[in-house]
Amino acid sequence: MPKRAVRANLTSYMADLKTKDKLLASIHKISSLLTRPISLDTILTSIVKETSLVFGFTRLAIFLADKDRGLLECRYIHGFSPEDSERALRFPYRLDYHDCVETRVARYGKTTFVKDYLSDPRVTPTDLKVCRIMRRVSTIAVPLKIKRDIIGLITADKDAIKLKLTRKDINAFTTFANQASIIIENARLQEQNQKKIKQLLTLQTIGKKTSSTFNLQKLLNVISASALKITKASSCTLFLMDDDSKQLKIASRNGYGNLDVVKFRLKVGTGIIGWVAENGIPLLVSDVHQDARYLEITEGVASQLAVPLISEKRVLGVLNVDSQNRGAFSDDDLKLLMIFAGHTASLIKNVRLYGQVMTERNFREDILESSPNSVVSINLKKEISSINRRTEEIFHLKRADVLGRRAADIFEEDIIQIIDLALDHHTVVDYKEIKKTGKEGDTAIFGITSSLLKNHQRNLIGAMVIIRDLTEEKKTEELIRRMDRLSSLGQLSAGIAHEIRNPLTSINFNVQLLAKKLVMTEATRSLIDDTQEGIDRIRILVKGMLDFAKPSRPSLKRDYIPRVLKDSIALMDSQLKKNGVDVAVHMQDPFPEVIFDAHQIQQVFVNLLLNGMEAMAEGGTINIKSLIEKDAKKKGEHALLHFTDYGVGISPENLSRIFDPFFTTKPDGTGLGLPIVHKILEQHNASVGVRSEEGKGTTFILKFPIHRAEE
Ligand SMILES: Nc1ncnc2c1ncn2[C@@H]1O[C@H](COP(=O)(O)OP(=O)(O)OP(=O)(O)O)[C@@H](O)[C@H]1O
Ligand SMILES: [Mg+2]
Repeated sequence: MPKRAVRANLTSYMADLKTKDKLLASIHKISSLLTRPISLDTILTSIVKETSLVFGFTRLAIFLADKDRGLLECRYIHGFSPEDSERALRFPYRLDYHDCVETRVARYGKTTFVKDYLSDPRVTPTDLKVCRIMRRVSTIAVPLKIKRDIIGLITADKDAIKLKLTRKDINAFTTFANQASIIIENARLQEQNQKKIKQLLTLQTIGKKTSSTFNLQKLLNVISASALKITKASSCTLFLMDDDSKQLKIASRNGYGNLDVVKFRLKVGTGIIGWVAENGIPLLVSDVHQDARYLEITEGVASQLAVPLISEKRVLGVLNVDSQNRGAFSDDDLKLLMIFAGHTASLIKNVRLYGQVMTERNFREDILESSPNSVVSINLKKEISSINRRTEEIFHLKRADVLGRRAADIFEEDIIQIIDLALDHHTVVDYKEIKKTGKEGDTAIFGITSSLLKNHQRNLIGAMVIIRDLTEEKKTEELIRRMDRLSSLGQLSAGIAHEIRNPLTSINFNVQLLAKKLVMTEATRSLIDDTQEGIDRIRILVKGMLDFAKPSRPSLKRDYIPRVLKDSIALMDSQLKKNGVDVAVHMQDPFPEVIFDAHQIQQVFVNLLLNGMEAMAEGGTINIKSLIEKDAKKKGEHALLHFTDYGVGISPENLSRIFDPFFTTKPDGTGLGLPIVHKILEQHNASVGVRSEEGKGTTFILKFPIHRAEE
């Protein structure tokens, strides 16, 4: 080999070595960056710097391929004017659409050197357009590869100057690019990992936030806001499936765009969202206008990602994110949103279930609360575990005061016996009537039923007692019975009275005639007197019977009760005095006006006074007092009159019969006094009741409706 050639070779070899050396130094420098957590941007900047240094390029661009979205994006650019840089960064090449040097290098992975764009046969119209815009005459484009995988490319040029590159230069640049791609890929993976870690952390915080809410709407709002955050979308809409109508309703929405969230409905199967709901498969659409399923719901959507919310193989709804940019979502976004959707679907299901349980519970509690019966449940320790509102009313209790206390401390013996029977002997009571006497001598009647409480495993956990207040019912029953008897007996007695009256008149007449004609001896006199007395008694009875059967229609007037009472007492004054009976009157003053028939009410008062007097053979006091009672429910008012004597009282077995016609315990009684009282009051829309205790005394209670003058 001639010396010159050897020297030339050597020089070229040395130069080559020098370039390689520089190159290695650069790569080393860049690689060292990787040991620290450094951003992809920093790595790309230093690659650009080092290449310009080694190869003397003035402009350089690094493109990375995003295969999911089919894009080739300019990720780093150096040496271009600000406008050119911005344009390059903003408009990625579409791998399946644009045909130019860059996309071809990204597709086929071959280093391409275009010495002169104007004469190169490989140049396409796209290339020419780019050249024009970027004022480019030649370029070198080197693929960035990881094993066989092309991750992007580097392009370089020298402004408007033609590049003069030797084969060796091209090889060196390719080697450099190969090294750089490893560094880029590493940095990219690192960045992706960091992004994933960040996303997972977000998921975790969202998970915590959502798991602690039992309010469905709140949960749905958190879900849609979180999905928006995770995917960096422009808007997120959460659709829930209405199983009956097979329609999707918007449950929550976040982000841009106008939509009538309340009224909007989407049929399952329509649009991308409807498709996802129907098929239960997620769908990522990079360009909605290329997808036949797309249905415009809001303006300006370019790409869309919809994932189904599935719980126990049922689609509950769809979580959808939109973006105004094409290809805004990646496969990673899809995977992440799927994980998120899986988590949220089960949460939604749980919260719904919780809601259902609560509704059922409230429903059951409402039923219990509004029950007309008292319901008491008792645990195995015989402590009260629950009572309802009616229990509070009947027994005059406060829930807070009795819960957890021993039943024996709260309820009466009768009820405790039933509880003991249930818990100690597992025996229930189908129906038992008990009587309870109140402080004022009024008796209440209760019907009691008991049952055993068992849990799901059929183990005994307590007992339940249902107590029905029968007092009013019994009173009504009694009243009906009384009226029934009154009317049938009334008709009968009216007939009899009528039949007796005429012969009685002639008997009376004849006896009087006989008395005049007969010669009176002592014995005859007494006979006649007895007969006359008998006739008088029959006359009173007949009159009473007729009064009772057909009391004249009351002539009702607005009148003053205390006045009539005073008159009645005055009428009986001498009789009362003779029997040593005082009458003490305590009347409301002023007494409300009541509409009544003064004559008939006087008859009532006289009858009650007479009975009171007769009950106190030794004399005493009859107390008469008045009370005004407001009836909250029926919006009425009543005037009550209590006639109390401290006489013999009435035995329980007689108590139910005293209003029966002809019931009397007195030798001279007709037994028509009280039936007449009852009948008169009935015609006044008033009523009469009685409380009595044998040996202590009796109270008759009259109840008049008050008619206020202004009504
Ligand atoms: N204040 C009272 N104290 C005790 N028992 C009473 C009282 N009022 C009524 N009774 C009982 O009720 C029965 C019926 O009374 P009612 O006024 O209807 O008839 P009577 O008083 O027996 O007869 P009459 O009224 O015709 O004299 C009485 O016989 C008596 O047993
Ligand atoms: Mg009487």
